[in-house]
Amino acid sequence: MGEEKRTLVYSRLRPILRDKGFNDFVDFMEYVRNDKSGDARVLLANRLTTNHTFFMREPEHFELLKSKVFPWIEREFGGERDLRLWCAGCSSGEEAYTLQMLAQDYFENKQGWNLEILATDISEKVLAQAYQGVYSKESLSTMPEDWLRRYFRNYDAANMIVNDAVKKNITFRKYNLMEENMPFKKPFQVIFCRNVMIYFDGATREAMARRFQKALAKGGYLFIGHSESLSNMNVGLDYVRPAVYKK
Ligand SMILES: C[S@@+](CC[C@H](N)C(=O)[O-])C[C@H]1O[C@@H](n2cnc3c(N)ncnc32)[C@H](O)[C@@H]1O
Repeated sequence: MGEEKRTLVYSRLRPILRDKGFNDFVDFMEYVRNDKSGDARVLLANRLTTNHTFFMREPEHFELLKSKVFPWIEREFGGERDLRLWCAGCSSGEEAYTLQMLAQDYFENKQGWNLEILATDISEKVLAQAYQGVYSKESLSTMPEDWLRRYFRNYDAANMIVNDAVKKNITFRKYNLMEENMPFKKPFQVIFCRNVMIYFDGATREAMARRFQKALAKGGYLFIGHSESLSNMNVGLDYVRPAVYKK
């Protein structure tokens, strides 16, 4: 672990050690390993992960989704009419809701499409926030007026809440991307995993990209963060444009 990361990990965990009365990290990790309830692991994951996210982040990706990816899905999967999109590392839900609103916009006048999407994260804390769907008006300032009117309602003076019609189309679920086997039966047409891999080393990133490749339908798209790249990785995905790959 690099010095910078070590300092980050120490500063994030020190308050837990103090609160729980542990003398050092070795004792604390021993406690995490032996805790059968799983609570200690959840606590650890919640403290260590960086959950920073916002609505409409990296908007070029959403443009591509509208102009190229959704039309491809409409053409190729028009028989089953099932959108299979996975937002991996969804944090507090802003990205998943943005994707759902885009899908609702695009497929609105097209009959019979199932638009349910999957959104996962390792942290229960952010998943609970995502599920609740309450966001400050300030955080919604980049949202088009029209979307605010159609997809949100007032919650209180400072916050708005996502409408049930949007919420019901997102399944929020806890899932650790480090797991070897992805428990999803049907292949996804689109996977968003942005600003998550950045925290892992090269070998882990490559293994993860391989698993995404496996989980994609033929011709399916993987979106990663603009500060991330799969260059020099031979994982069976073709480069489309910055931070976008295709199977
Ligand atoms: C910086 S946020 C990115 C949120 C969103 N994708 C975006 O681009 O705005 C990173 C998220 O990845 C999640 N994460 C980190 N490690 C993970 C893992 N092993 N499995 C699943 N999610 C993980 C964190 O909990 C956090 O919510």
